[in-house]
Amino acid sequence: MVQPLNMDVLQSLDRNKLPRHIAIIMDGNGRWAKERGHDRVFGHHEGVVSVREIVKCCGEIGIQYLTLYAFSTENWNRPKEEVNALMELLVNTIRKEAEELKKNNVRLHVIGDFDSLPVICQKELNEAMEMTASNTGLNLVLALSYSSKWEITKAVHDIAADTINGKIKLADITDGLFKSYLSTKNFPDPELMIRTSGEHRISNYLLYQLAYAELYFTDVHWPAFRRQQLYEALFDYQQRERRFGKTSEQIQTNTAQHA
Ligand code: FPP
Repeated sequence: MVQPLNMDVLQSLDRNKLPRHIAIIMDGNGRWAKERGHDRVFGHHEGVVSVREIVKCCGEIGIQYLTLYAFSTENWNRPKEEVNALMELLVNTIRKEAEELKKNNVRLHVIGDFDSLPVICQKELNEAMEMTASNTGLNLVLALSYSSKWEITKAVHDIAADTINGKIKLADITDGLFKSYLSTKNFPDPELMIRTSGEHRISNYLLYQLAYAELYFTDVHWPAFRRQQLYEALFDYQQRERRFGKTSEQIQTNTAQHA
């Protein structure tokens, strides 16, 4: 169901102060479904409706990167039926939406342990990434079979291997080089991380990249998180002072100088 939009929040948003990159932990599909007497998989299906609306909305307002935590490394431990249902939903959704993504100038990317996904998922994702490769609007990044511990451990392993084989020297290892070994190497760090459904955790998500992100937690379950709720999160974000370790006075002087 399309919810009526409270135009006040939309009008209050400063279009020049939007985050470039929003990361979302889409939590609460199961609880949302249970509360309505349905099984968990029904919640995931409704979660896709929210994904579609949030992707559309981000594209329209000019967000450049949207990263969605769609399946974590730990999610492999869920009951087999739920894992299968999620993989099937992923394949069907990508198959159905690829044309729409292309038309809407959305470019699809995937981060995570790609090889651990079922071959059919890899195939659909590869096709959709190829189809949308020349798009220049929103970059939609799906985190699939992803966890930060996996990503960081892999980066350390690859850096060590490149040091041993002489490709890099010990002195080359800086923050910048480390970032270039992460799966997010081509994306800026998120300025805003949203988690739905009332949990106040990061759950192994973009631990390195979220170092200075603003964290926004809402009790709304993911299937109920739509355009209105995104605007509310953005409005909240715009009220924050991002200091990056500096003082409030330094930030205000800097802002005045650049005004
Ligand atoms: C968390 O809710 C949600 C997930 C583990 C999967 C998210 C997947 C989708 C929204 C659908 C597929 C996405 C795409 C991009 C096609 P939960 O199951 O942990 O809910 P609970 O905390 O209430 O149990």
